Amino acid sequence: MRTDSSPQTIFRKDYTPPAYLVDTVELGFDLDPDRTVVANRITMRQNPASKSRDIVLHGEEIELVALRLNGKTLAPTEYHLNGSTLTIRKAPAKAVLEIETLCAPVQNTSLSGLYVSNGNFFTQCEAEGFRRITYFPDRPDVMAKYTVMLRADKAAYPVLLSNGNLIEEGELGDGRHYAKWEDPFKKPSYLFALVAARLVCQEERYTLQSGREVLLQVWVEEGNLDKTDYAMQSLKNSIRWDEERFGLELDLDRFMIVAVGDFNMGAMENKGLNIFNTKFVLANPRVATDIDYAGIEAVVGHEYFHNWTGNRVTCRDWFQLSLKEGLTVFRDQEFSADMIGTDSGRAVTRIDQVRTLRQAQFPEDAGPMSHPVRPDSFVEINNFYTVTVYEKGAEVVRMYQTLVGRDGFRKGMDLYFKRHDGQAVECDDFRAAMADANGRDLRQFERWYSQAGTPIVTARTRYDAVKRNFDIILSQRCPASAGQADKLPFHIPVAVGLLSASGKDLPLTLEGGKHAKGATTVVLELTEQEQIFRFRHVDERPTPSILRDFSAPVILEYDYTDDELLHLFSHDSDPVNRWEAGQRLAMERLLKLTAQVAAAGGSDAGLKLDATFINAQRAVLTDDTLDPAFRELALILPSEIIIAEQMDVVDPQAIHVARQFMRRTIGAALKSELLAQYHANQTPGAYSPDALSAGKRALKNLCLSYLMVAPDMAELKLAQQQFEKAGNMTDRSAALVSMIHSGAEAGPYLKAFYQDFEHEALVIDKWFAMQAAAPTTNVAAVRKLMQHPAFTLKNPNRARSLIFNFTGANPSQFHAADGSAYEFWAEFVIKLDAINPQVAARLARGMDRWRRYAPALQAKMKKALEKVAGRAKLSNDVLEVVTKALAN
Ligand code: TRP
Ligand code: ZN
Repeated sequence: MRTDSSPQTIFRKDYTPPAYLVDTVELGFDLDPDRTVVANRITMRQNPASKSRDIVLHGEEIELVALRLNGKTLAPTEYHLNGSTLTIRKAPAKAVLEIETLCAPVQNTSLSGLYVSNGNFFTQCEAEGFRRITYFPDRPDVMAKYTVMLRADKAAYPVLLSNGNLIEEGELGDGRHYAKWEDPFKKPSYLFALVAARLVCQEERYTLQSGREVLLQVWVEEGNLDKTDYAMQSLKNSIRWDEERFGLELDLDRFMIVAVGDFNMGAMENKGLNIFNTKFVLANPRVATDIDYAGIEAVVGHEYFHNWTGNRVTCRDWFQLSLKEGLTVFRDQEFSADMIGTDSGRAVTRIDQVRTLRQAQFPEDAGPMSHPVRPDSFVEINNFYTVTVYEKGAEVVRMYQTLVGRDGFRKGMDLYFKRHDGQAVECDDFRAAMADANGRDLRQFERWYSQAGTPIVTARTRYDAVKRNFDIILSQRCPASAGQADKLPFHIPVAVGLLSASGKDLPLTLEGGKHAKGATTVVLELTEQEQIFRFRHVDERPTPSILRDFSAPVILEYDYTDDELLHLFSHDSDPVNRWEAGQRLAMERLLKLTAQVAAAGGSDAGLKLDATFINAQRAVLTDDTLDPAFRELALILPSEIIIAEQMDVVDPQAIHVARQFMRRTIGAALKSELLAQYHANQTPGAYSPDALSAGKRALKNLCLSYLMVAPDMAELKLAQQQFEKAGNMTDRSAALVSMIHSGAEAGPYLKAFYQDFEHEALVIDKWFAMQAAAPTTNVAAVRKLMQHPAFTLKNPNRARSLIFNFTGANPSQFHAADGSAYEFWAEFVIKLDAINPQVAARLARGMDRWRRYAPALQAKMKKALEKVAGRAKLSNDVLEVVTKALAN
């Protein structure tokens, strides 16, 4: 909690190296939920790179019991405790500090530091949680070797885990036992972890490619051992993949994953002891959907890959967060794509990434929290674990690969590890490795790290039939963002192909280009404000396919005609642009329909959808040569959020009505085809989460959702039967969601679902989430759901399932004209802030785009923001978000 009135802003330019380096840390824990004693011995020496002789330690919400320097107890006059920093001035060149502190894990509801979840002890130290455990120079450029002694009651906490290797364990008498762990690798404090718990594990010995054997464990609560197979399989796949793709081997003899029900984020890459939100570990067909399975694979991979990109090479300071996160997201994306293995499967994962960027990152980059991939300042670092740092950061890494090729990228990675293994470095060091390994000048590329905002690339074309030249003129601009009025041109790779009238790719000859002869996709490098690219020997006016594979995180403007889009939608060999053409066709119509609905006071009477569009949808739906997963993506209309981003003044109700009209019309027009595809894409037999089966289920369930927009008796029956007969959670929950959204009586089914899964917390989260996101659920209904005995604000998954799914995924109700949902938002930002500032600040972000609504709504949103901002006791987390939202 904030103690002084104005929170401090921390600037990247103020970085100074630490005055003291730490060689070893010896920690002793006497674990007790109410009163845990932490003994800490730090062996430090002066850093030759610093002139300061002051030892600076951080500590928060802990009680200092004793402090000794080189064996001598320090009197309160010999150190300075100021807020959360403890300073020892003019310390000797070599210092051994012994620090004893107290904390109360059971009181810790923030889930940062040492806390209790369902009676077990866990830690979460990233970014600055270690200081809530003991006094320490809690910054990522201080790397040290850790030895950890854990002591706890044996009956209550039979399992004692920490980083690295178990070197000793035994009894202490009086019912307590101990375990001693040693981590052979030096690490920053944010990677420290311990677990003391009643847990069981699935374990396996696994042989690395080098022949070395390692022990893999997945730890869960008793009763969940039937849900650990997929996480274990994903871990083994991750280990193998990193060996094959990047030549990176697991460096420990033991690797553990532990699942915990109370967790602020997805998972944490603590060295050798990854701690996971249960959501990203536990799965079996009965309780988990295809999306859950894919999430587990991605997050297990992500945390495992951090072992090299994050742990062995870490960040100099938190401004460099994307150094590890952007790179590791890119690695987990590539892992997931490689696990599918097919080109079309790869494309499907890529389309999903584009959707995430448009749904979440572009809005962030255009809003009050806009920041560069490498921010220049922050108030609370926890607010910068964002889609910009993660997903845009991954796009930036992907662009290196697009520019230097897959082999060149590998060379860059090899050089990066050769230079920086064991170091804490900057984003610039990664860029330098890529440049040097490939002999490329990537200086201008630095702007992707320093400039915020989504660049807009505008394309024009001209064809000279006589000279057979086709020119693509690309220009770029980037809107101003907080603190950055003018932007310099970015280095943008724009992958391009040209389609003939018959829909075939033309072989390309780019003037001055260095591409292979006969290539059908070339990467144009746009580095100036405007550039002309000339293709020669072009026999007919082609249809350009620009930004293939979404080769840069930009907005592409090009005046496509409907005919060109239809041509691309049916022929583009690049699946991402093929999908994109469909999205453009849909978006144009959705915006027109939305305007018509708004002009008609919210009514959809008299709206029309053209046969051309419906026929294009029909063609994709029924094209059995296409991957079902691709067809599903091609048929999903742009979300209400993405539509809203295209409008100057957002009218959430009109968007909803227009989109529903479009869905209803498609559902009616394609009824027989939808039904046929529903039946053709069944997946009988034992459930498997593989991409082909998941794709079939996705397409089948999309068909069902279309049929259920305005269902007749037969369609209702279909949904009910699917619900009752489903052999897996994907089909069961899809059927239930379709019933809830149809407005038909879903009560008995919701009740049955609840009763079936009462003891599966993650499924009850789904139960809340699907109701919260239904356009039929208003704020009063959400408040009523909050009265349900299973609801609690203390568990982040549960709070997110109901509150965030309402404020974030149900725009037509969240923006109800009377502003009642905004008051609800303010009330729960405040309530959550008293429990868990990180979670509260994420909810607070829900009001980021308030200035884009009609004046009447704006006024109500502003009032809600001011209500929160005006609270006397607010965390820095929430204060930063609402202050920035209200700033001009
Ligand atoms: N570094 C973690 C990851 O990307 C995420 C993380 C950051 C986190 N801060 C956290 C997890 C706080 C839990 C709590 O995988
Ligand atoms: Zn990460």
